[in-house]
Parts: sequence; C-alpha cells; structure tokens
Amino acid sequence: MRLLVTGAAGFIGSHFVDAVFENEVAERLAVLDALTYSGNLSTLERFRSNDRFRFYHARVEDPAAVANVVRDEHITHIVNFAAETHNDRSILDSSAFLTTNAIGIDNLLTVARRESIAKVVHVSTDEVYGSIGSGRFTEKSPLEPNTPYSASKAAGDLQCRAHFVTWGTPVVVTRGGNTYGPYQFPEKLIPFFATRLIDAKKVPLYGEGSQVREWIHVRDHAEGILQVLLEGCPGEAYNIGDDNERTNRDIVRILLEETGRDASLVKQIPDPRGGAHDARYSMETLRIRKLGWSPKRVFEQGLRDTVRWYVQNEAWWRPITESEEYKEYVANYYGRTLGSDL
Ligand SMILES: NC(=O)c1ccc[n+]([C@@H]2O[C@H](COP(=O)([O-])OP(=O)(O)OC[C@H]3O[C@@H](n4cnc5c(N)ncnc54)[C@H](O)[C@@H]3O)[C@@H](O)[C@H]2O)c1
Repeated sequence: MRLLVTGAAGFIGSHFVDAVFENEVAERLAVLDALTYSGNLSTLERFRSNDRFRFYHARVEDPAAVANVVRDEHITHIVNFAAETHNDRSILDSSAFLTTNAIGIDNLLTVARRESIAKVVHVSTDEVYGSIGSGRFTEKSPLEPNTPYSASKAAGDLQCRAHFVTWGTPVVVTRGGNTYGPYQFPEKLIPFFATRLIDAKKVPLYGEGSQVREWIHVRDHAEGILQVLLEGCPGEAYNIGDDNERTNRDIVRILLEETGRDASLVKQIPDPRGGAHDARYSMETLRIRKLGWSPKRVFEQGLRDTVRWYVQNEAWWRPITESEEYKEYVANYYGRTLGSDL
C-alpha cells in the first residue's frame, strides 16, 4: 500500500507512523501537515532517514495540494489525523475548527473519489457522542456533541457518511477515547499538568475534578487505527477505547506522585467550559475487538512512563512552552483564574 497520512506532525499521527513502519504495511508513506501550533517537525525527526518516508507542508482543505500529493506519490490509502483538537481553544475561537475538521475531510474524500483511493480512514473522537451518565456509547448512538470542537468533529463524521452513501467512497471512521503518551502538545490535561508540575507551577483543576474520561495509551490507539485501515469495513464507524475510566482527580494524584509535588500546587478553578464540560465518556468497543485488536498497555504504568518521558524530553517541549504563542494562549485562557500563579 502507498499511504498518505495527514496531521502526523501531531501527537497520535506520529505514533501511527511508528506502527505502520514497525508492521511493514506500507511501501511508501507520505505525511501532509500544515504545521499549525500543534504540529511539530521535531516530532517527525525519527522518520527522516527512512527512504519510504516523505513530508509535504500543506493544508487538508487545499484541493490542489492534496490532489498533487496523491498523484505524485501514487497514493492508494489515506488516514486523516489533521485536525484542530483542543476543546478549550474552540471556546476562544471556533472558526479554524470548522475549516479543518469539516471542510478538510470533505476535501480529502472528494480527492479520494476522483483518484479512486482504495480506502480512507477518518480519525474522530468519542466526544461526538456527547456525555453519558450511565451505560456506554455504541457506534449506533446518536451524535450529540456539546462543544464547538466536538461539533466540528461530528460534522466531519457526517461528511464521511454522506460520501459513502452518495458516491460509495470507501471511508471508515474511528472514534477514540482520551489519549495519553509521549509527544502530546502541552495544552491537554496530562502534558499541560506534567510540564507545569515539573516546573513547580500551579495547575488549574476544573471544579472538583470529578469529570470521568476513558483513557487509552497513544500506541494502543494508533494500533487500533491501523487495524481499522487493514480490516475495517467501509461505511462503518469503530469505537477505540480501553474500558479505563478515571476521574480527572485520579489523574492529578498520579501526576503529583510521579513529579514529586504535593497537592498545594493544585488550584481548583471554576469550569471555563461551563455547561459544555461533559461529565462522562464511555464506549462499547466490541466492533473493533472483532477485527482482532485489543489494548495492551496498563494505564497507571503507561501514565507514569509518560510523565518520565516529559521529564527526560524537555528539549522537545520547552521550546513550545517558551514560545510567545503558547504563553499568550495560557494567559488568555487561564489568566483570570490563575492570576499571579500563571
Ligand atoms: N488527543 C486525543 O485525546 C484524541 C482523542 C480522540 C480522537 N482524537 C483525534 O485524533 C486526531 C489527532 O489528534 P492529536 O491529538 O494527534 O492532534 P494534534 O493537535 O496533536 O495534531 C494535529 C495535527 O494536525 C495538523 N493540522 C491541523 N490543521 C491542519 C490542516 N488544516 N491541514 C493539515 N494539517 C493540519 C497539525 O499541524 C498537527 O500536526 C484528531 O482528529 C483528533 O480529533 C484525539
């Protein structure tokens, strides 16, 4: 197979590239990425010497750029990770979310149809289902997104359905749970808190920290997406989860232990997402398990290893946390609640 992977200069996409090369499933792998604030060329450094790897700097919503890469590289399969991914940023400004997460996948699917691509995998999220008090979401649950981010992702999922029904475009959707591991941009809960705790800075816990998330290790998530690329049925969606539900409070306890800090660094703040902060996510994953996938990493060990990775890889994240863009975002979003603890 000759694979186009979009958005692989980000977190999960880069681990997916690792999984593809380790399993020797592609004779060629081209990455297309816009290098937005969360895309990082240094994340792709480990693939540079591989002669099956090629990088293209372009946007997924650019029809000519995508079509050129597909033709030049004789691409047969596409996996789309390119996205605006941070809920909190979507609350500050949602426009880029719709452009990339809805128009971007629409453009990829149009190119895929015209160029007779054999399969497209669109990477989505459990957040498209909204929040669930008890029980679990299945792939048949209604899409009831609650934030501008999750609504833009649901729009992308619906484009996939529409392209499959209207033109028979062979597209499969994956919906993964909250993902953790190395190379995650330090704005999401785990790397944001870990990097701040390493620096002995206060961390902002929304409310009581009682929100429940289903966490999955990035490598398990990437391997699930690879299994869907190889075995997934076009027109279907596949939940990818680890049955591992934790409150944010639980996560913070482990982060404090692993960084050797105490609870005085945790500052409870009013929830900036207001009513849009989903209380609980939980997914049924029978469908992907029938394809032969199951998660392999144990959460608590995986989380502790992740914190150690951030301790040991300051050279990767320090240039990000020292950048003007990052400082401005943190000040805009947390300035009012963290005040002098910023
Ligand atoms: N991180 C999670 O917990 C999680 C959970 C479930 C699903 N997902 C989904 O997985 C996918 C990848 O998430 P991530 O956490 O790796 O994201 P990320 O923010 O780390 O990376 C996103 C990548 O997309 C690129 N990008 C953004 N806009 C682009 C555009 N218009 N054209 C081309 N490239 C563009 C960025 O430069 C970056 O490299 C997303 O679709 C996300 O919704 C993430």
